[in-house]
Amino acid sequence: MAFAVLLLLLLPLNTLVCPSWGFEIVPGSGHDLGVLAQELMSSAKQPEFFEWMRGIRRKIHEYPELGFEEFRTSEIIRKELDAMGIEYKWPVAETGVVGFIGSGRKPVFGLRADMDALPLQELVDWEHKSKVNGKMHACGHDSHVAMLLGAAKLLQDRKDQIKGTIKLVFQPGEEGYSGAYYMLQDGVLDDLDGILSIHVYPMFPTGAVASKAGPILAGAGLFSATIHGTGGHAALPHLSRDPIVAASSAVLGLQQIVSRESDPLEAQVVTVGYIEGGHAKNVIPESVKFGGTFRSLSAKGLSFLQKRIKEVIELQAAVHGCQAEVEFPDERTNPHPVMVNHEQLYEHTKRVAEALVGEPNVQVLPVTMGSEDFSFFAERTASLIFAIGIRNETLKSDHHLHSPYFFIDEEALPVGAALHSATAISFLNSSPSCVDEE
Ligand SMILES: *[C@@H]1O[C@H](CO)[C@@H](O)[C@H](O)[C@H]1NC(C)=O
Ligand SMILES: [Zn+2]
Ligand SMILES: [Zn+2]
Repeated sequence: MAFAVLLLLLLPLNTLVCPSWGFEIVPGSGHDLGVLAQELMSSAKQPEFFEWMRGIRRKIHEYPELGFEEFRTSEIIRKELDAMGIEYKWPVAETGVVGFIGSGRKPVFGLRADMDALPLQELVDWEHKSKVNGKMHACGHDSHVAMLLGAAKLLQDRKDQIKGTIKLVFQPGEEGYSGAYYMLQDGVLDDLDGILSIHVYPMFPTGAVASKAGPILAGAGLFSATIHGTGGHAALPHLSRDPIVAASSAVLGLQQIVSRESDPLEAQVVTVGYIEGGHAKNVIPESVKFGGTFRSLSAKGLSFLQKRIKEVIELQAAVHGCQAEVEFPDERTNPHPVMVNHEQLYEHTKRVAEALVGEPNVQVLPVTMGSEDFSFFAERTASLIFAIGIRNETLKSDHHLHSPYFFIDEEALPVGAALHSATAISFLNSSPSCVDEE
């Protein structure tokens, strides 16, 4: 009884019900979508528009900033939004910005760009090479910002056609800082009905795009371990407890979690990425440290790996008379959840992409065991990652993400801007309108 009363008190009196997902989406007519897509693409390819987007990308490329330090990038974004007359909230998670276009009412669709660079020395010699030693936009986030600002301009020019609200999500700290998680702690994104993120991808040629429904990137966690032994003279091992041998056994033992304990049909990874211990050839050290990452395409797989990593290290240490401490970083953000592309949002966006670049240029994105903190959005709302091709052999833009030779074919910028804006407009047009329940 008391429970029922409590429930009543918790219910808001006036709820806005917006059943955009889990219900059928009404697709707009193919003709309308085709017209919209072509119009947006041709605006994005206008020389003046293209040069403006490219200029933003190059400016950000020259001054790369690491996670949660994107002050200059954030300022560039805000200046551009100011110039377009788009309102925004800032700061969201230190340097993040959320812009608003539309009525302010439901449904609400998000478009997301990450903004951080990597601690990497750029090795491409070109006019707009990174001017900051040891920092480089080697994951293309500079182009993501430019594409989203491009979309912002396309959308703002058509703001009267927008049925609902579009939120432009400029996110800090994707590269290992869980920026997506921290942005979601701010209530400004609580009302999203769906969100699209774009990532450039050298696997696909410029002009092509790719995605896929379902799990697309792994859930990923980090671990670190310290094995404490008893140090001593290398010639007297019986008086020591050797943490180097214990760590070696532990590292080998970890390999068997995936090979012997997991279903071979379930993709999983355990990798030890560093090991440090000892300094002298004739001394048994006191301790050894090592650490790595574990990945799976299911939440169950992630928790299984986490539990076994701890057990295997602790027990292997015990076999050698040592003690292990196994640590996992902040459990709010570690592991990152599995990135699952929402099926209906994928089907919708695939149609939009076909209208933009033609059916043969919409390809299937292979599942990989990489990870993305955008998966924190996917836990909250219908979310989708779409890959934008940037490969052009003439430009040598075929290097992997995170390579010091990574290079972007900037002709991909209009594709990204058009895909963002066309998806947002058509999503809102095809979502059932919302009812105000008294
Ligand atoms: C690759 O880039 C070069 C130089 O900008 C351009 O001439 C060529 O058309 C591009 N190729 C493709 C397939 O887009
Ligand atoms: Zn990256
Ligand atoms: Zn990235």
